Amino acid sequence: MRGTTITGTGMYVPERVLSNRDLEKLVDTTDEWIVDRTGIRERRIAAADQASSDLALIACQRALEMAGVDAKDVDQVILATTTPDRILPSCGCTLQRKLGATRAAAYDMLAACTGFVFGTGMARGLISGRMADTVLVVGVETLSRIVDYTDRNTCVLFGDGAGAALFQACEFGEGVHAVEMHSDGELGEVLEVPSGISVNPASEQTVARREHFIRMQGKKLFPFAVRSMEDATRKCCDAAGWPPEAVDLFIPHQANRRIIDGVRERLGLPENKVYVNIDRYGNTSSASIPIALDEVVRAGRLKRGDHLAIAAFGGGATWGASTMTWTMPLFTGGAPSASATDGARA
Ligand code: UT7
Repeated sequence: MRGTTITGTGMYVPERVLSNRDLEKLVDTTDEWIVDRTGIRERRIAAADQASSDLALIACQRALEMAGVDAKDVDQVILATTTPDRILPSCGCTLQRKLGATRAAAYDMLAACTGFVFGTGMARGLISGRMADTVLVVGVETLSRIVDYTDRNTCVLFGDGAGAALFQACEFGEGVHAVEMHSDGELGEVLEVPSGISVNPASEQTVARREHFIRMQGKKLFPFAVRSMEDATRKCCDAAGWPPEAVDLFIPHQANRRIIDGVRERLGLPENKVYVNIDRYGNTSSASIPIALDEVVRAGRLKRGDHLAIAAFGGGATWGASTMTWTMPLFTGGAPSASATDGARA
């Protein structure tokens, strides 16, 4: 028996900042409303020539560099996204080519904002089942491509970015203890892009009706988000044998500051144990947890032996969580090297 653990993390966000003040010029909203109702102050927007695979590439290069692993030694690339470059080839395969992960099986996973949690579950299954030794999981989104900037209900929420984590084998009992993965297709309409591939293929009519953009019933999602993340986190804590208060750091999906606060209060965690960066990036869906994870790792906030919990919910509906004992020593490596920032517009 062997365990599964994270040995490297990386993130990348595009250079362009879209502030709440910028959005005030596009729709009937205010900086005060957005900050008060969501906690978001700004979000990043990919340049016209930046595809999801480009964002993912930089995050993955940084994760591999931190782990000291060559791209050629990666066995599987799991790319979680709702905004792939296109339908065919998969974004995972495009990333594999750009990264030079020539030995890897690469593919996309569509689990919306829960994509990184589902990727964690798959990496653990592959490694513990000895189907792979080295699995790269990347959450990446260019949500700005499917956000309707005439719809104030959604356009204030979402941003672009990528976050990656490299999973490898470790001592049994260390690393990932538990992963909860859940779906409820009955809730599909709550967050959807109404037209697409086999349902309502793109036509002049679907474009005119703006049916290729995100539509969301935010009020219905809100209580579901709080309940589902609390429940999945509690189950993962139980499986790890920890009471929730034994968690040293909790990284929830960054969808709304009030949702994060609701989950934190229900779990009985103090504010200093919950990582929040929604003010700077908004909701980056599948990328939000690995972006946050890379920030805490590089800031030296996770050390060997710490108890980490992550949790997410999203369209589908999907939700899940994971608990893990951190196995990496305190990170003191500084900023990623120039070779891991090729193509970045920093
Ligand atoms: O990752 C998964 C993706 N989705 C989510 O996580 C979303 C979860 N839901 C939410 O975060 C919140 O429900 C929202 C932030 C989307 C909305 O907050 P809310 O407190 O639930 O507001 P509401 O939908 O009840 O709307 C309150 C009012 C409405 O006006 P009326 O009908 O009361 O006159 C909205 O039209 O606020 C209005 N409103 C806005 N006003 C100014 C909605 N969006 C805006 C806006 N600026 N951007």
